[in-house]
Amino acid sequence: MAIRWTDDLSVKNEMLDAEHQKWILILNDFYQGLMDKKPKEKLLELVIAMLDYTKYHFASEEKYMKSINYPKLAEHQEKHRFYEAKISEYHERIKEGKMVLSLEVTNFLKTWLINHIRGVDQQYAAFSAK
Ligand SMILES: [Fe+2]
Ligand SMILES: [Fe+2]
Repeated sequence: MAIRWTDDLSVKNEMLDAEHQKWILILNDFYQGLMDKKPKEKLLELVIAMLDYTKYHFASEEKYMKSINYPKLAEHQEKHRFYEAKISEYHERIKEGKMVLSLEVTNFLKTWLINHIRGVDQQYAAFSAK
């Protein structure tokens, strides 16, 4: 099932909220591609789009956190690197023709993204509001 951005996911920054919304759409596209058992070439396209946007968003968010002197930046960056590594791993698996839609993939992609926004991203939002 597709995930949706809702107001309670806001990080109180218009640009970053817009990025999160787009990120969710891209993730949904990838997930839909897996569900529809799209051919490998198409899945590769979708996973690359997701990896690219994820990197773009993380860079933009990290720049923002630096600009507000966010004290937990390093910790946050580690989480970003972990997620990028995971997407790269999916990319490899698709290339090798080993990617199957499993509970692991379903849970990981959606849960991580939502929990990250809610748990970790919203902490810099709270910090910047102080
Ligand atoms: Fe983040
Ligand atoms: Fe984020």
